[in-house]
Amino acid sequence: MDQKEISKIFKSVSSVEDLEKLRLQYLGKKGLVSLEMKSLASLSIEEKKIKGQELNNFKSFFENELKNKKNEIEKLFFNEKLKKEKIDTSLPPRNFNSGKIHPISQTIYKVIDIFGSMGFSVKSGPDIETDFNNFTALNIPDHHPAREMQDTFYIDDKVLRTHTSPVQVRTMLQSKPPIRIIVPGRTYRSDSDSTHTPMFHQVEGLLIDKSSTMAHLKGCLIDFLKEFFEINDLKYRFRPSYFPFTEPSAEMDIAYLKKDNVIKFGEGEDWLEILGCGMVNPIVLENCKIDSSQYQGFAFGMGIERLSMLKYGISDIRSFYESDFRWLNHYGFNPIDSISSLGL
Ligand code: DAH
Repeated sequence: MDQKEISKIFKSVSSVEDLEKLRLQYLGKKGLVSLEMKSLASLSIEEKKIKGQELNNFKSFFENELKNKKNEIEKLFFNEKLKKEKIDTSLPPRNFNSGKIHPISQTIYKVIDIFGSMGFSVKSGPDIETDFNNFTALNIPDHHPAREMQDTFYIDDKVLRTHTSPVQVRTMLQSKPPIRIIVPGRTYRSDSDSTHTPMFHQVEGLLIDKSSTMAHLKGCLIDFLKEFFEINDLKYRFRPSYFPFTEPSAEMDIAYLKKDNVIKFGEGEDWLEILGCGMVNPIVLENCKIDSSQYQGFAFGMGIERLSMLKYGISDIRSFYESDFRWLNHYGFNPIDSISSLGL
């Protein structure tokens, strides 16, 4: 049992099965080593000692070879397996531009960004409102003609809010002045044509303190529109108007020029109504538990869809809600650009 010979045999083995065969051939019950061990019985004590020692040495040499070979084969087998089972953990190539920000969302972000920089914080309220918050507290009593101005959806004794103004009421009832909030949100009226959808969005503004005036209101709105439409020489006018919740009330128009189907602001002789506003009616302040002899303020409300249509050149309001993928792809905003355009 020459060790060199054995090493050679081990080298030629390449599978666990063959290795096991080899083990049995030498170390098995009927293996060569066992047979040699048995044959020791017929030897003299001296010979037994020498031969026994030799056999033991061989056995441990063989076992060592066996262990090394086993490790080697297992390692090879494992590497082979690793290679075969390789998992590609990277994601397949994707189109990073497939998801877009809806122009309504983009407009709301922009509005929040501008008023936020003026110190207004964002408030929200529920779509389903009480009659009191939507009408009564805002000085629109039962049977008041203003209720008919707004074709209301009723749900039992509640309403789908017809404007964002009820959040004025909620805020004034909840917190003490000074108040400086804007409220972007969904609103509902039973109306549908190319300029009206039953669900649409408004943004409400409310500022209450001890000294704010109509001049502050005007300054605030002019600055907002200049920033929103990104034009410095905005041509605008304030027209006297009527809202039950403001006194005095006004509507703001901006001048525009329509040329080759493109609308340009700051030019032209045509006027476009853009928002309603006014000084908060003292009756509303009192309805909301605010002392009108101490506090005053202004409010405004505008349609998000209208702002969006004008800024992004969208002609039919209904297209916002058709979920037409081509439309969304065209008018939507890349999320990365959308955020960076807000300076975030
Ligand atoms: N709530 C009004 C509407 O839906 C818009 C409005 C006008 C809101 C004047 C105001 C305001 O806060 O002062 O038509």
